[in-house]
Amino acid sequence: MQEIKKYVEDNKQRFLDELFELLRFPSVSADPKYKDDVLKTADFVAQKLKDAGADKVEICPTAGYPIVYGEKIIDAGLPTVLIYGHYDVQPPDPLELWKTPPFEPTIRDGKIYARGACDDKGQFYMHVKAFELMMKTNTLACNVKFMIEGEEEVGSANLATFVKANTERLKADIVLISDTSMISMENPSIETGLRGLAYMEVEVTGPNRDLHSGVYGGAVANPATILCKMIASLHDENNHITVPGFYDKVLELTLKEREALNAAPFDLDEYKKDLDIDAEWGEKGYTTLERTGIRPTLEVNGIWSGYIGEGAKTVLPSKANAKISMRLVPNQNSTEISDLFTKHFESIAPDYVKVKVTPHHGGEPVVTPTDSIAYKAAEKAIEDSFGKQAIPTRGGGSIPIVALFEDVLGIKSVLLGFGLDSDALHSPNEKYDVFNYYKGIETLPLFHKYFAEFSK
Ligand code: BES
Ligand code: MN
Ligand code: MN
Repeated sequence: MQEIKKYVEDNKQRFLDELFELLRFPSVSADPKYKDDVLKTADFVAQKLKDAGADKVEICPTAGYPIVYGEKIIDAGLPTVLIYGHYDVQPPDPLELWKTPPFEPTIRDGKIYARGACDDKGQFYMHVKAFELMMKTNTLACNVKFMIEGEEEVGSANLATFVKANTERLKADIVLISDTSMISMENPSIETGLRGLAYMEVEVTGPNRDLHSGVYGGAVANPATILCKMIASLHDENNHITVPGFYDKVLELTLKEREALNAAPFDLDEYKKDLDIDAEWGEKGYTTLERTGIRPTLEVNGIWSGYIGEGAKTVLPSKANAKISMRLVPNQNSTEISDLFTKHFESIAPDYVKVKVTPHHGGEPVVTPTDSIAYKAAEKAIEDSFGKQAIPTRGGGSIPIVALFEDVLGIKSVLLGFGLDSDALHSPNEKYDVFNYYKGIETLPLFHKYFAEFSK
């Protein structure tokens, strides 16, 4: 531990400078205008893996953005840790709400502000630096493989093909991922589950063209109104989702499991204050932690129709659109849910409009074991480094690769994330605490150490 701390202390500034360099690449996978930048980011990551001491570093092409691979196999008899992360980021919009530009990382009050600071550049880069540390101090205890992808934020469409084609190369005993959150630095926690996702786009079409709202209004259905009604009908008065069959496969937790989940420190008043809301909302019969951890949800992510420019235009729009996503829990399946949604949404469309439903990406929910050697190694690493017992929590977000690794490779994951829910992931002014960055770099070598020890 002393040796680890010393190495981090001696290299503090450089570790930060390198992360800043990484954060300056606008690697937005969703927007083709950043294509060159995304590709340059992959080059940078590959170079840093090489510099840290990785062998067989390769920028593996896919039908989309490349996957950066690298490994250090020191002894076939030792366990192998596969580290997964993503170098792509969400779009920075709305730009005007950023206090400092998203791709010019800035430290304020001990926090690094930049798009990707926490999700996931700041977090996966901790692994690259922890690996460097273990190489330089001759303490690497496990074989290590890195797989850093560039399409996580757009659904990892090409990842399954890569994983299936590289089962031998990716062989490992555990997948280690830092792309999730902790409750707080005072209450370190480990996420033990992720929700799945079914993402849909819907289009409601009324008349064949935009109409004068005075000449035709009142006599022709307005698709914006109809879409709003259809969307509103997707939740009932108890905020249950009304899609028939939606809950059929949902795994209900036992009372004991629910109690354990609700025992985690959580202050509803703080939560409301932080979000500036007077009251929380959600499915009747469940707590806020349950609503985001173990229950499925349906959200409108975007909705548009008609005139939204300056001033007023009197128009009855021809079309109305929305992007709708559903978060899934065990044992729901994204394809099944996507089919159920499509059928239902088409069936509730009145005669005076036409409806088109297009599924986007999906991902399956997972629960990670808490009785495994790997989880115990993560627990012990946290305990050593934080001086506290890690609390298991269920995360609301999705990382589709986790289920894929299980299905295709048969490897379980440990979600050892150091972010905070308040890090503003996907929002303006995303941040990552400098403290968390260094803390992560200090904690990760301990995971490797204990994983090797416990595997003996
Ligand atoms: N790192 C997040 C997922 C996450 C965040 C998990 C916080 C747990 C806590 C990841 O980059 C992400 O944003 N995933 C997307 C899904 C993806 C298919 C676009 C998500 O959850 O919306
Ligand atoms: Mn992420
Ligand atoms: Mn993300």
